[in-house]
Amino acid sequence: MPSFDDADFGGPIHIIKSKDLTRVKTGESNGDRRGSAYGSPLAIAGEDLSNSVEVPATRPSIANASPFMLELSMDGRPGAKDRRGSRNSFGASLPIPKSKRQSRLSSIAYSGSNAGRPSMPTVQPTREILASQVQDMSGEKVTAAKDMAFVFDIDGVLVHGDRLIPEGQRVLEILNGDNELGIKVPHIFLTNGSGKPEAARIEQLSKILQQPISMEQFIQSHTPMRALSEYYSTVLVVGGEDYRCREVAEQYGFKDIVVPNDIVAWDPTIAPYRVFTDEERKTSNPRDFSKVNIEAIMVFSDSRDYATDMQIIMDLLQSENGRFHTRAKDPVSQRIPIYFSQGDLLCPTEHPNPRMSQGAFRIGLEAMYKALTGEDLERVVYGKPELATYKYADSVLENWMDIIHNDERLPKNIYMVGDNPASDIVGGNSYGWNTCLVRTGVFQGGENDVENPANFGVFKNVLDAVQTAMKKELGQDFNFNWKNERVNPLLQKGDVSAVMVE
Ligand code: G3P
Ligand code: MG
Repeated sequence: MPSFDDADFGGPIHIIKSKDLTRVKTGESNGDRRGSAYGSPLAIAGEDLSNSVEVPATRPSIANASPFMLELSMDGRPGAKDRRGSRNSFGASLPIPKSKRQSRLSSIAYSGSNAGRPSMPTVQPTREILASQVQDMSGEKVTAAKDMAFVFDIDGVLVHGDRLIPEGQRVLEILNGDNELGIKVPHIFLTNGSGKPEAARIEQLSKILQQPISMEQFIQSHTPMRALSEYYSTVLVVGGEDYRCREVAEQYGFKDIVVPNDIVAWDPTIAPYRVFTDEERKTSNPRDFSKVNIEAIMVFSDSRDYATDMQIIMDLLQSENGRFHTRAKDPVSQRIPIYFSQGDLLCPTEHPNPRMSQGAFRIGLEAMYKALTGEDLERVVYGKPELATYKYADSVLENWMDIIHNDERLPKNIYMVGDNPASDIVGGNSYGWNTCLVRTGVFQGGENDVENPANFGVFKNVLDAVQTAMKKELGQDFNFNWKNERVNPLLQKGDVSAVMVE
């Protein structure tokens, strides 16, 4: 018989003595086990009740997960209680890159035939000339169009996984110039998505959306984490498909990158339930990890193998100096830092109900850590709705204004369009942006979200949100089509005196 003590359960348990067990049975002598004082056990059809002993549960069956949830502190100044006790720490602050330009760190990819012309749809060169004619005559509207900007969430707003949300494509056409001014309305993409290099992700997205997307207008959850490469050299990178997150970390400038497969290849007993394929063994980089100091853990993307990843992370968090096969004498002061790229609990996918995301993985890990060590796990979580991510978005937007309008500044009226109230909307609200909640993703509620209501409104889709915002800023009669014939005399049927093109 296995024996258990309190530690196995992560805390004190109330021991039930055998005489109490007898007492709680209502049937006493006839062995009727139903109606116990500890609740009514389920009867199993065909079960022979005489051959089993029923032990009532001693702990509540409903876990209290709230202490493990991400708490949002938007003032950016962590209080003393939030400060890490671990070495290598710099408090609960989130470094973000100073440089607004991403291209110096990785290649830029523009889709299709628009290479080198970020943000511009496929148009005849004359269109830009014609558009500038129209813009010259529409001073006020042009000023308003350059003083508004959109920040788009991606999953659940523009696409579902690999599937296009058709209104998303139309919105990008409008903002890339298919509007009465032929003007580019500033917009950037701010996704909690992760798991592949930015260049690969924008290539995939621009194919789905049939619109060009630039690296300089694109932020994934882990994009600002490249700042951490200045703090840590040897890191464990967790999550994502194959070795794509290793690639991401390399592009961010991390010098020595370890992934869970490297560790399993070195010591398969570390993950007893893992079936490790020959292919995985061949493609991994094992070495003696009992002699390597891993300085920090970076969860970049969703785990593809919770059991292996959680075991490896737990081993490292309890280790001495981030060395496998060791146990720290002081689990708090010797603990290496852990970072998560985002905290979303759920993510909309092709599946009818949203799927668990990195936040669910993190909460599981935090609960496990507490149960096994008795300590709260200190961690840093990037991504929406964290302040650092929004500050980074501001700098990307400023830079994008410089690229498209040669005017490096923040537009006054910024609209965040998102589907997740607990991420996009709460973050946008706290940051002073206008927030639009759409019904094409996570949010499936009533009039507005009760806890984190969108301040600009709830819309059936992204097109509805964008058109409403543009009408507010540019006039109710604003036209969402570029019409060459209004300015091009060659296309004019009757009155050619309207506007002459030189
Ligand atoms: O939660 C995971 C991620 O796919 C969410 O992406 O674009 O909705 O922030 P997004
Ligand atoms: Mg979303």
